[in-house]
Amino acid sequence: MTQDTTFIIRADAPIGTISPRLYGHFAEHLGRCCYEGLWVGTSETNIPHEAGFRSDVLGALRALPVPMLRWPGGCYADHYHWRDGIGPASDRMVRLGMSCDLQVEDDNSLGTHEFLHLCQMLGAEPYLAGNVGSGTVQELCDWLEYCNSTVRTKLARERAANGSSEPFGVRLWGVGNENWGCGGNFDAVTYALEYRRYATMMRHVDPTVELVACGLEEPRMFANGFDSSWNAKLLNTLGRHINLVDHLSIHTYWVDGGPQTEFSEDEYYRLLDEAEAMEQNVVRTAATIKEATGGRHRIGIALDEWGVWHPEARPWGPRGTAVCQSPVTYEQANTLRDALAAGIALEGFHRQCNVLTLANLAQIVNVLQAVVMTEGPHMWLTPTYHALRLHQPHLGATALPVDVTQGSSLASGTRAVSATASHSDSGLAVTLINRHWDQPATVRIAGTGSTGKASGQLLAADSPRASNSLHQPDRVAPVALDVQGDGHDYRVELPPHSLATITFQLSR
Ligand code: AHR
Repeated sequence: MTQDTTFIIRADAPIGTISPRLYGHFAEHLGRCCYEGLWVGTSETNIPHEAGFRSDVLGALRALPVPMLRWPGGCYADHYHWRDGIGPASDRMVRLGMSCDLQVEDDNSLGTHEFLHLCQMLGAEPYLAGNVGSGTVQELCDWLEYCNSTVRTKLARERAANGSSEPFGVRLWGVGNENWGCGGNFDAVTYALEYRRYATMMRHVDPTVELVACGLEEPRMFANGFDSSWNAKLLNTLGRHINLVDHLSIHTYWVDGGPQTEFSEDEYYRLLDEAEAMEQNVVRTAATIKEATGGRHRIGIALDEWGVWHPEARPWGPRGTAVCQSPVTYEQANTLRDALAAGIALEGFHRQCNVLTLANLAQIVNVLQAVVMTEGPHMWLTPTYHALRLHQPHLGATALPVDVTQGSSLASGTRAVSATASHSDSGLAVTLINRHWDQPATVRIAGTGSTGKASGQLLAADSPRASNSLHQPDRVAPVALDVQGDGHDYRVELPPHSLATITFQLSR
Protein backbone atom coordinates (compact mmCIF):
# COMPACT_ATOMS: atom_id res chain seq x y z
CA MET A 1 0.00 0.00 0.00
CA THR A 2 1.33 3.45 -0.85
CA GLN A 3 0.90 6.19 1.74
CA ASP A 4 0.01 9.71 0.66
CA THR A 5 1.50 12.65 2.48
CA THR A 6 1.14 16.36 1.77
CA PHE A 7 3.49 18.95 3.22
CA ILE A 8 3.17 22.71 3.14
CA ILE A 9 6.34 24.70 3.60
CA ARG A 10 5.75 27.74 5.84
CA ALA A 11 8.15 30.30 4.40
CA ASP A 12 6.10 32.96 6.21
CA ALA A 13 7.11 31.71 9.68
CA PRO A 14 10.90 31.22 9.82
CA ILE A 15 12.16 29.41 12.93
CA GLY A 16 15.76 30.64 13.03
CA THR A 17 19.22 30.04 11.59
CA ILE A 18 20.58 26.50 11.36
CA SER A 19 24.08 27.14 12.66
CA PRO A 20 26.73 25.06 10.88
CA ARG A 21 27.82 24.19 14.45
CA LEU A 22 24.80 21.87 14.61
CA TYR A 23 26.64 19.70 12.09
CA GLY A 24 29.75 19.26 14.23
CA HIS A 25 31.71 16.04 14.73
CA PHE A 26 33.67 14.44 17.53
CA ALA A 27 37.11 12.81 17.45
CA GLU A 28 38.23 11.03 20.60
CA HIS A 29 41.41 9.13 21.31
CA LEU A 30 39.30 6.00 21.52
CA GLY A 31 39.91 2.79 19.58
CA ARG A 32 40.75 3.53 15.94
CA CYS A 33 39.13 6.94 15.69
CA CYS A 34 42.08 9.32 16.01
CA TYR A 35 44.97 6.90 15.55
CA GLU A 36 44.57 4.91 12.32
CA GLY A 37 41.26 6.52 11.35
CA LEU A 38 42.47 10.09 11.04
CA TRP A 39 46.15 10.06 11.92
CA VAL A 40 48.67 7.69 10.38
CA GLY A 41 51.69 9.81 11.25
CA THR A 42 54.37 11.21 9.06
CA SER A 43 56.71 8.21 9.00
CA GLU A 44 56.43 4.43 8.67
CA THR A 45 53.18 4.47 6.72
CA ASN A 46 52.34 3.52 3.15
CA ILE A 47 48.99 5.24 3.41
CA PRO A 48 48.93 8.53 1.49
CA HIS A 49 48.60 11.39 3.92
CA GLU A 50 48.74 15.15 4.29
CA ALA A 51 50.88 16.09 7.28
CA GLY A 52 50.09 12.74 8.92
CA PHE A 53 46.34 12.71 8.26
CA ARG A 54 44.97 10.15 5.79
CA SER A 55 44.35 11.80 2.41
CA ASP A 56 41.33 9.61 1.62
CA VAL A 57 39.62 10.47 4.90
CA LEU A 58 40.46 14.15 4.51
CA GLY A 59 38.90 14.15 1.05
CA ALA A 60 35.70 12.55 2.31
CA LEU A 61 35.43 14.88 5.29
CA ARG A 62 36.09 17.99 3.23
CA ALA A 63 33.18 17.03 0.99
CA LEU A 64 30.81 16.37 3.89
CA PRO A 65 31.63 19.10 5.24
CA VAL A 66 32.84 19.17 8.87
CA PRO A 67 32.12 22.67 10.21
CA MET A 68 33.26 21.95 13.78
CA LEU A 69 35.29 19.22 15.47
CA ARG A 70 35.52 18.35 19.18
CA TRP A 71 38.70 16.75 20.57
CA PRO A 72 40.37 14.93 22.40
CA GLY A 73 37.43 13.37 24.29
CA GLY A 74 35.05 12.26 25.71
CA CYS A 75 36.16 10.50 28.83
CA TYR A 76 39.69 10.70 27.44
CA ALA A 77 39.68 14.49 27.95
CA ASP A 78 39.70 14.20 31.73
CA HIS A 79 42.93 12.20 31.57
CA TYR A 80 44.56 14.34 28.89
CA HIS A 81 47.55 16.54 29.67
CA TRP A 82 48.09 18.81 26.72
CA ARG A 83 51.83 19.23 27.35
CA ASP A 84 52.28 15.53 26.48
CA GLY A 85 51.26 16.37 22.92
CA ILE A 86 53.49 19.31 21.96
CA GLY A 87 57.11 19.59 20.88
CA PRO A 88 59.21 17.18 18.82
CA ALA A 89 57.41 13.84 18.35
CA SER A 90 60.45 11.92 19.58
CA ASP A 91 60.27 13.72 22.94
CA ARG A 92 56.60 13.04 23.51
CA MET A 93 55.70 10.81 26.37
CA VAL A 94 53.88 7.53 25.80
CA ARG A 95 50.93 7.67 28.13
CA LEU A 96 48.19 5.35 29.15
CA GLY A 97 45.36 6.27 26.79
CA MET A 98 42.23 5.87 28.86
CA SER A 99 38.67 6.20 27.79
CA CYS A 100 35.66 3.98 28.30
CA ASP A 101 37.61 1.22 30.10
CA LEU A 102 40.16 0.86 27.30
CA GLN A 103 43.80 1.13 28.26
CA VAL A 104 46.16 1.60 25.35
CA GLU A 105 49.53 3.09 24.57
CA ASP A 106 49.13 6.66 23.41
CA ASP A 107 52.32 8.08 21.95
CA ASN A 108 50.78 11.55 21.79
CA SER A 109 51.93 12.00 18.21
CA LEU A 110 48.54 13.57 17.50
CA GLY A 111 48.63 16.61 19.78
CA THR A 112 47.48 20.21 19.83
CA HIS A 113 49.31 21.45 16.72
CA GLU A 114 48.37 18.39 14.69
CA PHE A 115 44.71 18.59 15.69
CA LEU A 116 44.46 22.30 14.99
CA HIS A 117 46.17 21.77 11.65
CA LEU A 118 43.59 19.10 10.85
CA CYS A 119 40.86 21.63 11.62
CA GLN A 120 42.50 24.13 9.28
CA MET A 121 42.71 21.52 6.52
CA LEU A 122 39.03 20.63 6.98
CA GLY A 123 37.80 24.19 7.43
CA ALA A 124 36.44 23.04 10.81
CA GLU A 125 36.12 25.18 13.90
CA PRO A 126 38.03 23.48 16.75
CA TYR A 127 36.34 22.68 20.04
CA LEU A 128 38.79 21.62 22.74
CA ALA A 129 37.58 19.60 25.71
CA GLY A 130 39.55 20.49 28.85
CA ASN A 131 40.62 18.28 31.72
CA VAL A 132 38.83 18.83 35.03
CA GLY A 133 38.88 15.23 36.33
CA SER A 134 42.66 14.88 36.66
CA GLY A 135 43.88 18.35 35.69
CA THR A 136 44.20 21.72 37.34
CA VAL A 137 42.84 25.18 36.67
CA GLN A 138 46.37 26.34 35.91
CA GLU A 139 46.91 23.53 33.38
CA LEU A 140 43.78 24.44 31.45
CA CYS A 141 44.55 28.18 31.64
CA ASP A 142 48.03 27.39 30.28
CA TRP A 143 46.58 25.42 27.36
CA LEU A 144 44.29 28.35 26.58
CA GLU A 145 47.16 30.83 26.80
CA TYR A 146 49.35 28.56 24.65
CA CYS A 147 46.66 28.39 21.97
CA ASN A 148 45.29 31.90 21.99
CA SER A 149 47.61 34.44 23.53
CA THR A 150 48.63 37.36 21.37
CA VAL A 151 50.99 38.57 24.10
CA ARG A 152 54.55 37.27 23.69
CA THR A 153 54.50 35.19 26.85
CA LYS A 154 56.76 32.21 27.44
CA LEU A 155 53.89 29.93 26.39
CA ALA A 156 53.15 31.93 23.24
CA ARG A 157 56.85 31.80 22.33
CA GLU A 158 56.84 28.07 22.91
CA ARG A 159 53.87 27.79 20.54
CA ALA A 160 55.82 29.78 17.95
CA ALA A 161 58.88 27.56 18.43
CA ASN A 162 56.61 24.56 17.84
CA GLY A 163 55.49 25.94 14.51
CA SER A 164 52.70 28.44 15.04
CA SER A 165 53.72 32.03 15.56
CA GLU A 166 50.11 33.10 15.03
CA PRO A 167 47.65 32.30 17.83
CA PHE A 168 45.14 29.59 17.00
CA GLY A 169 42.21 31.58 18.38
CA VAL A 170 40.25 28.58 19.65
CA ARG A 171 36.90 29.89 20.84
CA LEU A 172 35.10 26.78 22.09
CA TRP A 173 36.37 25.19 25.31
CA GLY A 174 34.72 22.43 27.30
CA VAL A 175 35.28 22.55 31.06
CA GLY A 176 35.43 18.81 31.60
CA ASN A 177 33.36 16.01 30.12
CA GLU A 178 30.61 13.96 31.77
CA ASN A 179 31.87 15.10 35.17
CA TRP A 180 28.82 13.46 36.75
CA GLY A 181 30.43 10.15 35.65
CA CYS A 182 33.76 9.31 34.02
CA GLY A 183 34.99 12.90 34.44
CA GLY A 184 35.36 12.60 38.21
CA ASN A 185 32.00 11.41 39.60
CA PHE A 186 31.27 14.88 40.90
CA ASP A 187 27.98 15.87 42.46
CA ALA A 188 26.34 18.86 40.80
CA VAL A 189 27.17 21.42 43.49
CA THR A 190 30.84 20.44 43.74
CA TYR A 191 31.17 20.55 39.95
CA ALA A 192 29.48 23.97 39.90
CA LEU A 193 32.04 25.35 42.36
CA GLU A 194 34.89 23.84 40.34
CA TYR A 195 33.38 25.17 37.13
CA ARG A 196 33.14 28.67 38.63
CA ARG A 197 36.87 28.61 39.46
CA TYR A 198 37.92 27.22 36.06
CA ALA A 199 35.68 29.55 34.09
CA THR A 200 36.63 32.66 36.05
CA MET A 201 40.35 32.08 35.53
CA MET A 202 39.95 31.04 31.87
CA ARG A 203 38.01 34.22 31.13
CA HIS A 204 40.93 36.24 32.56
CA VAL A 205 43.28 34.53 30.12
CA ASP A 206 40.96 35.04 27.15
CA PRO A 207 37.69 36.92 27.65
CA THR A 208 36.49 35.99 24.17
CA VAL A 209 36.23 32.22 24.73
CA GLU A 210 32.92 30.39 24.76
CA LEU A 211 32.82 28.02 27.70
CA VAL A 212 30.84 24.80 27.78
CA ALA A 213 29.71 23.49 31.17
CA CYS A 214 28.98 19.82 31.70
CA GLY A 215 25.28 19.11 32.06
CA LEU A 216 23.08 16.03 32.13
CA GLU A 217 19.61 15.52 30.68
CA GLU A 218 19.03 11.90 29.76
CA PRO A 219 16.14 9.85 31.20
CA ARG A 220 18.12 6.62 30.69
CA MET A 221 20.86 7.92 32.98
CA PHE A 222 18.32 9.10 35.54
CA ALA A 223 16.84 5.59 35.57
CA ASN A 224 20.36 4.38 36.43
CA GLY A 225 20.56 6.60 39.49
CA PHE A 226 22.19 9.74 38.08
CA ASP A 227 20.95 13.08 39.41
CA SER A 228 17.91 14.25 37.45
CA SER A 229 18.32 17.75 38.85
CA TRP A 230 22.01 18.08 37.90
CA ASN A 231 21.37 20.93 35.44
CA ALA A 232 19.17 22.92 37.82
CA LYS A 233 21.59 22.46 40.74
CA LEU A 234 24.57 23.42 38.58
CA LEU A 235 22.96 26.60 37.27
CA ASN A 236 21.41 27.59 40.59
CA THR A 237 24.69 27.09 42.43
CA LEU A 238 26.39 29.38 39.92
CA GLY A 239 23.78 32.00 40.83
CA ARG A 240 25.03 35.47 39.95
CA HIS A 241 28.00 33.88 38.16
CA ILE A 242 25.74 32.10 35.70
CA ASN A 243 27.12 34.30 32.93
CA LEU A 244 30.28 32.17 33.11
CA VAL A 245 28.32 29.56 31.13
CA ASP A 246 27.94 30.05 27.39
CA HIS A 247 26.76 26.54 26.53
CA LEU A 248 25.47 23.66 28.63
CA SER A 249 26.51 20.24 27.39
CA ILE A 250 24.23 17.21 27.24
CA HIS A 251 24.87 13.81 25.65
CA THR A 252 22.38 11.37 24.16
CA TYR A 253 23.10 7.90 22.82
CA TRP A 254 20.39 5.65 21.37
CA VAL A 255 20.94 2.22 22.83
CA ASP A 256 17.63 0.44 22.57
CA GLY A 257 17.46 -0.69 18.95
CA GLY A 258 18.59 -4.30 19.42
CA PRO A 259 21.34 -5.81 17.28
CA GLN A 260 23.29 -3.59 14.92
CA THR A 261 22.23 -5.36 11.71
CA GLU A 262 19.87 -8.27 12.48
CA PHE A 263 17.23 -6.11 14.13
CA SER A 264 13.52 -6.88 13.94
CA GLU A 265 10.83 -4.52 12.67
CA ASP A 266 9.97 -3.61 16.28
CA GLU A 267 13.60 -2.85 17.03
CA TYR A 268 13.84 -0.77 13.87
CA TYR A 269 11.01 1.45 15.04
CA ARG A 270 12.35 1.52 18.60
CA LEU A 271 15.63 3.05 17.42
CA LEU A 272 13.83 5.64 15.29
CA ASP A 273 11.64 6.49 18.28
CA GLU A 274 14.72 7.00 20.45
CA ALA A 275 16.11 9.36 17.82
CA GLU A 276 12.81 11.22 17.75
CA ALA A 277 12.73 11.47 21.56
CA MET A 278 16.16 13.11 21.75
CA GLU A 279 14.59 16.46 20.90
CA GLN A 280 12.76 16.34 24.23
CA ASN A 281 16.11 16.26 26.07
CA VAL A 282 16.87 19.56 24.36
CA VAL A 283 13.42 20.97 25.14
CA ARG A 284 13.69 20.03 28.83
CA THR A 285 17.22 21.46 29.06
CA ALA A 286 15.99 24.71 27.50
CA ALA A 287 13.21 24.91 30.10
CA THR A 288 15.71 24.39 32.95
CA ILE A 289 17.98 27.09 31.52
CA LYS A 290 15.07 29.49 31.17
CA GLU A 291 13.99 28.88 34.74
CA ALA A 292 17.52 29.36 36.10
CA THR A 293 18.44 32.43 34.06
CA GLY A 294 15.02 34.08 34.07
CA GLY A 295 15.80 34.78 30.43
CA ARG A 296 18.46 37.33 31.50
CA HIS A 297 21.46 35.45 30.14
CA ARG A 298 21.63 33.30 27.05
CA ILE A 299 23.00 29.79 27.54
CA GLY A 300 22.97 27.60 24.47
CA ILE A 301 22.61 23.84 24.56
CA ALA A 302 25.63 21.85 23.40
CA LEU A 303 24.59 18.34 22.40
CA ASP A 304 28.26 17.54 22.07
CA GLU A 305 27.87 13.77 21.81
CA TRP A 306 24.94 12.14 20.06
CA GLY A 307 24.19 9.11 17.96
CA VAL A 308 23.53 5.39 18.04
CA TRP A 309 25.53 3.06 20.25
CA HIS A 310 24.78 -0.54 19.36
CA PRO A 311 25.12 -3.39 21.87
CA GLU A 312 27.98 -4.93 19.87
CA ALA A 313 30.07 -1.83 20.58
CA ARG A 314 29.58 -1.55 24.32
CA PRO A 315 30.04 -3.67 27.37
CA TRP A 316 26.68 -2.77 28.96
CA GLY A 317 22.89 -3.35 28.49
CA PRO A 318 20.04 -2.48 28.54
CA ARG A 319 17.67 -5.40 27.97
CA GLY A 320 20.60 -7.80 28.40
CA THR A 321 21.43 -7.25 24.76
CA ALA A 322 25.14 -6.52 25.12
CA VAL A 323 27.21 -8.72 22.86
CA CYS A 324 30.51 -7.49 24.14
CA GLN A 325 33.51 -8.03 21.92
CA SER A 326 36.59 -8.66 23.93
CA PRO A 327 38.11 -6.18 24.13
CA VAL A 328 35.36 -3.75 23.12
CA THR A 329 36.53 -1.86 20.05
CA TYR A 330 33.69 0.66 20.06
CA GLU A 331 33.26 -0.12 16.36
CA GLN A 332 29.88 -1.08 14.99
CA ALA A 333 27.96 -1.62 11.80
CA ASN A 334 26.23 1.40 10.34
CA THR A 335 23.05 0.61 8.45
CA LEU A 336 20.47 2.59 6.55
CA ARG A 337 18.40 2.49 9.78
CA ASP A 338 21.15 4.46 11.56
CA ALA A 339 21.22 7.00 8.74
CA LEU A 340 17.45 7.52 9.02
CA ALA A 341 17.81 7.91 12.80
CA ALA A 342 20.44 10.62 12.21
CA GLY A 343 18.04 12.35 9.79
CA ILE A 344 15.28 12.25 12.42
CA ALA A 345 17.66 13.82 14.95
CA LEU A 346 18.52 16.58 12.47
CA GLU A 347 14.82 17.41 12.02
CA GLY A 348 14.76 18.10 15.77
CA PHE A 349 17.97 20.16 15.56
CA HIS A 350 16.36 22.40 12.96
CA ARG A 351 13.21 22.83 15.06
CA GLN A 352 15.32 23.66 18.15
CA CYS A 353 17.89 25.83 16.38
CA ASN A 354 17.10 28.81 18.61
CA VAL A 355 18.20 26.99 21.77
CA LEU A 356 20.53 24.27 20.46
CA THR A 357 23.81 26.02 19.70
CA LEU A 358 26.09 23.14 18.78
CA ALA A 359 26.05 19.38 18.29
CA ASN A 360 28.68 16.71 17.65
CA LEU A 361 27.93 13.34 16.15
CA ALA A 362 29.88 10.59 17.97
CA GLN A 363 32.33 9.79 16.45
CA ILE A 364 33.89 10.85 13.19
CA VAL A 365 35.88 7.81 11.97
CA ASN A 366 35.65 4.08 12.80
CA VAL A 367 34.11 4.49 16.27
CA LEU A 368 30.36 4.42 17.11
CA GLN A 369 28.18 6.18 14.48
CA ALA A 370 31.17 6.97 12.30
CA VAL A 371 30.71 8.66 8.96
CA VAL A 372 33.86 7.08 7.55
CA MET A 373 35.36 3.62 8.11
CA THR A 374 38.90 2.50 7.33
CA GLU A 375 40.63 -0.84 6.98
CA GLY A 376 44.33 -0.63 6.27
CA PRO A 377 44.70 1.47 3.11
CA HIS A 378 40.95 1.25 2.32
CA MET A 379 38.16 3.62 3.24
CA TRP A 380 34.41 3.63 2.73
CA LEU A 381 31.55 5.95 3.58
CA THR A 382 28.72 4.86 5.85
CA PRO A 383 25.02 5.44 5.19
CA THR A 384 25.16 8.08 7.94
CA TYR A 385 27.78 9.96 5.91
CA HIS A 386 25.40 10.09 2.97
CA ALA A 387 22.47 11.18 5.14
CA LEU A 388 24.51 14.09 6.50
CA ARG A 389 25.75 15.01 3.05
CA LEU A 390 22.16 15.21 1.83
CA HIS A 391 21.59 17.79 4.58
CA GLN A 392 24.35 20.05 3.26
CA PRO A 393 21.93 22.69 1.82
CA HIS A 394 20.52 23.28 5.33
CA LEU A 395 23.82 24.43 6.87
CA GLY A 396 23.62 28.13 7.67
CA ALA A 397 20.14 28.35 6.12
CA THR A 398 16.91 29.52 7.79
CA ALA A 399 14.81 26.70 9.21
CA LEU A 400 11.16 26.75 8.13
CA PRO A 401 8.22 24.95 9.72
CA VAL A 402 6.55 22.26 7.65
CA ASP A 403 2.82 21.62 8.08
CA VAL A 404 1.34 18.23 7.29
CA THR A 405 -2.15 18.36 5.81
CA GLN A 406 -2.40 14.68 5.04
CA GLY A 407 -0.38 11.69 6.12
CA SER A 408 -0.45 8.42 8.02
CA SER A 409 1.07 7.79 11.43
CA LEU A 410 3.15 4.97 12.85
CA ALA A 411 2.19 2.95 15.94
CA SER A 412 4.23 5.34 18.12
CA GLY A 413 2.13 8.27 16.88
CA THR A 414 4.92 9.86 14.84
CA ARG A 415 4.34 10.59 11.18
CA ALA A 416 5.30 7.84 8.76
CA VAL A 417 6.82 10.49 6.53
CA SER A 418 8.48 13.50 8.12
CA ALA A 419 10.12 16.58 6.67
CA THR A 420 12.41 19.47 7.47
CA ALA A 421 12.88 22.55 5.32
CA SER A 422 15.11 25.60 5.07
CA HIS A 423 15.80 28.44 2.74
CA SER A 424 18.95 30.34 1.89
CA ASP A 425 20.22 32.49 -0.95
CA SER A 426 20.71 29.34 -3.01
CA GLY A 427 17.11 28.28 -2.72
CA LEU A 428 14.81 26.09 -0.69
CA ALA A 429 15.73 22.63 0.55
CA VAL A 430 13.37 19.98 1.88
CA THR A 431 14.61 16.73 3.41
CA LEU A 432 12.05 13.93 3.65
CA ILE A 433 12.20 10.68 5.58
CA ASN A 434 9.89 7.78 4.87
CA ARG A 435 10.21 5.95 8.17
CA HIS A 436 7.91 3.14 7.16
CA TRP A 437 9.47 -0.32 7.36
CA ASP A 438 7.89 -1.64 4.16
CA GLN A 439 5.50 0.88 2.59
CA PRO A 440 6.42 3.40 -0.10
CA ALA A 441 5.05 6.93 0.01
CA THR A 442 3.82 9.50 -2.46
CA VAL A 443 4.76 12.90 -1.11
CA ARG A 444 3.32 16.22 -2.28
CA ILE A 445 5.06 19.45 -1.38
CA ALA A 446 3.35 22.82 -1.60
CA GLY A 447 4.33 26.32 -0.61
CA THR A 448 7.84 26.12 -2.00
CA GLY A 449 7.57 29.56 -3.58
CA SER A 450 9.50 28.07 -6.45
CA THR A 451 8.65 28.14 -10.07
CA GLY A 452 12.14 27.15 -11.00
CA LYS A 453 14.12 23.96 -11.23
CA ALA A 454 13.78 21.25 -8.60
CA SER A 455 16.14 18.33 -8.19
CA GLY A 456 16.34 15.49 -5.72
CA GLN A 457 18.75 12.99 -4.21
CA LEU A 458 17.55 9.76 -2.63
CA LEU A 459 19.19 7.49 -0.05
CA ALA A 460 17.48 4.09 -0.09
CA ALA A 461 18.21 0.38 -0.19
CA ASP A 462 16.37 -2.91 -0.47
CA SER A 463 16.52 -3.29 3.32
CA PRO A 464 16.90 -0.96 6.32
CA ARG A 465 19.60 -3.42 7.43
CA ALA A 466 21.74 -2.56 4.41
CA SER A 467 25.18 -1.17 5.14
CA ASN A 468 28.42 -0.45 3.31
CA SER A 469 31.61 -2.41 3.79
CA LEU A 470 35.08 -2.89 2.43
CA HIS A 471 33.70 -5.28 -0.20
CA GLN A 472 30.45 -3.41 -0.89
CA PRO A 473 31.34 0.24 -0.30
CA ASP A 474 28.43 1.62 -2.32
CA ARG A 475 25.53 -0.60 -1.35
CA VAL A 476 23.89 2.41 0.29
CA ALA A 477 24.65 5.56 -1.69
CA PRO A 478 22.57 8.48 -2.99
CA VAL A 479 20.94 8.37 -6.42
CA ALA A 480 19.01 10.98 -8.36
CA LEU A 481 15.33 11.27 -7.42
CA ASP A 482 12.70 12.15 -9.97
CA VAL A 483 10.79 15.28 -8.91
CA GLN A 484 7.51 15.95 -10.69
CA GLY A 485 6.14 19.46 -10.48
CA ASP A 486 4.01 22.12 -12.10
CA GLY A 487 6.04 25.06 -10.82
CA HIS A 488 4.16 25.35 -7.50
CA ASP A 489 3.29 21.89 -6.26
CA TYR A 490 5.75 19.04 -6.50
CA ARG A 491 5.51 15.29 -6.10
CA VAL A 492 8.05 12.55 -5.34
CA GLU A 493 7.80 8.81 -4.77
CA LEU A 494 9.77 7.54 -1.80
CA PRO A 495 10.56 3.87 -1.28
CA PRO A 496 10.16 2.44 2.24
CA HIS A 497 12.89 3.35 4.80
CA SER A 498 14.43 6.12 2.75
CA LEU A 499 15.66 9.69 3.01
CA ALA A 500 15.69 12.32 0.28
CA THR A 501 16.58 15.95 -0.17
CA ILE A 502 14.91 18.11 -2.79
CA THR A 503 16.32 21.51 -3.65
CA PHE A 504 14.23 24.17 -5.35
CA GLN A 505 15.51 27.26 -7.09
CA LEU A 506 13.53 30.23 -5.87
CA SER A 507 11.73 32.49 -8.33
CA ARG A 508 13.30 35.93 -8.37
O1 AHR B 1 31.84 8.51 22.82
C1 AHR B 1 32.23 7.53 23.73
C2 AHR B 1 32.10 7.98 25.18
O2 AHR B 1 30.76 8.18 25.49
C3 AHR B 1 32.76 9.27 25.55
O3 AHR B 1 34.11 9.10 25.85
C4 AHR B 1 32.00 9.69 26.75
O4 AHR B 1 31.93 11.10 26.90
C5 AHR B 1 30.63 9.08 26.56
O5 AHR B 1 30.21 8.40 27.68
